[in-house]
Amino acid sequence: MSSRPAKPNSKALGAKSPQPQKGGKQRRSQATTRRSVGIKAGGIKTLREPLTYALRGAKDDELVKNSLTHPLHSYPARMHPATARALVDICFGIEKVQPRVVLDPFCGSGTTLVEGRAAGLDVIGADLNPLAVRIARAKTWACPKKRLTAFEQLGAKISAAAVEEGKAARRADYEPRPIRILKGVDPAARDEEIAPWYAPHVRRELEFIAGAIDEEREEDEQMADLLSVCLSSLLIKTSRRTSDTSPKGMKRNIARGAPGRWFGERIELMVQGLIDLHREGASGDVTLLERDARKLVGPGVVAPESVGAIISSPPYIGTYDYVDHHRLRLAFLGMPYDDFERKEIGARRRFKGRAHQAALKAIDDFKECLKGFDEVLVPGGLMALMVGDSVAGVEPVWADGVLREIAEDRFSVLGWVSQERDKLGSLEKRAFGEYPKREHILLFEKKSQS
Ligand SMILES: C[S@@+](CC[C@H](N)C(=O)[O-])C[C@H]1O[C@@H](n2cnc3c(N)ncnc32)[C@H](O)[C@@H]1O
Repeated sequence: MSSRPAKPNSKALGAKSPQPQKGGKQRRSQATTRRSVGIKAGGIKTLREPLTYALRGAKDDELVKNSLTHPLHSYPARMHPATARALVDICFGIEKVQPRVVLDPFCGSGTTLVEGRAAGLDVIGADLNPLAVRIARAKTWACPKKRLTAFEQLGAKISAAAVEEGKAARRADYEPRPIRILKGVDPAARDEEIAPWYAPHVRRELEFIAGAIDEEREEDEQMADLLSVCLSSLLIKTSRRTSDTSPKGMKRNIARGAPGRWFGERIELMVQGLIDLHREGASGDVTLLERDARKLVGPGVVAPESVGAIISSPPYIGTYDYVDHHRLRLAFLGMPYDDFERKEIGARRRFKGRAHQAALKAIDDFKECLKGFDEVLVPGGLMALMVGDSVAGVEPVWADGVLREIAEDRFSVLGWVSQERDKLGSLEKRAFGEYPKREHILLFEKKSQS
């Protein structure tokens, strides 16, 4: 994966790309660049400024971050909503690509899709993580008004009942309900996964909410899925786990009734976000697929040459482990994830002891993805990908170099921007050596067939 080994003797993977130069000098041959606090950009002149804005962000980033349905649910390595907004604008506002259909093949929590909807586009999202798809579906819900009202009322009713349940637990004669049994889920295994993370009274209240959602599922699966996203959004903040990405334990004092109250607040947040999204002009079609990004083309999936632009942030090689990050939430909600566990691309768990091979495999997987992306894009369609440098074992992975190499047969680079990021820990410092670690956005155009 490394086109530029940090150490002359380290194993080099992938084809050669331009060598970095000392002293922060330009290392690209493609175009001249401009510099602004660790940022470099190149390619077509008129695109440098908007791409820089997309990566660096702006003063109103916080406003964008807290707008629409963006704040509903956290997600590891989520794209910044302001970045998604800027990339949608570059592809459909500045470049005016047609058709007005955006695809995010690694949609995660659906940041690109929310921004695509706000811009009036048809949106298609895919992810192998079943929880991601459920979150993205909730955040982009094309809800008829009556259904939204029904959702709000049902959420408020469950919230109030959960608060009562929490308070009732203080009474001497209180009898806890038996633990929920989920269809097709081994109760002992589920309990083993969940029990260590929650204070008993917190778990009882969360299970009470989940039980009410199960009852709703018998009648109305869509409604249950939407409610479960609001529940999922609380599962870390009420637990003893520090965050999705850190399994370290921490102490949290959660009052009785708080989970129920927070659930009600999430319902309100989601309802208001959806109202705002529709006010912004969200009227296009929404398609969400629990699907491998390598298998997107075909009947009933994504039609060839039907997409104007792809805007996405693929998994950073060897950096995250989405199965692991979401194991607690998935177990709590009783969502199966075998397929995801088998096919997640670039997952950190595969790098232990065999990092070089794992990195090569991830690069091959991305190559396969790019083949499908090429097929679904219209001729002249655009592809904006956000990628980050990482470390595989002790080797640096220069994500932009890798991407250019595997994309060059099918795509030409219109513009790019890179920004320095902190090197985390001694391993990264050693692997990157004197070179900066960066995050990049590359904007590609599909090549016309020769
Ligand atoms: C960087 S995250 C995307 C975050 C997203 N942009 C957001 O704002 O929430 C990368 C995503 O790739 C997904 N992923 C990993 N392997 C995949 C595969 N083979 N097919 C589809 N999605 C995959 C992960 O589940 C994760 O959601």
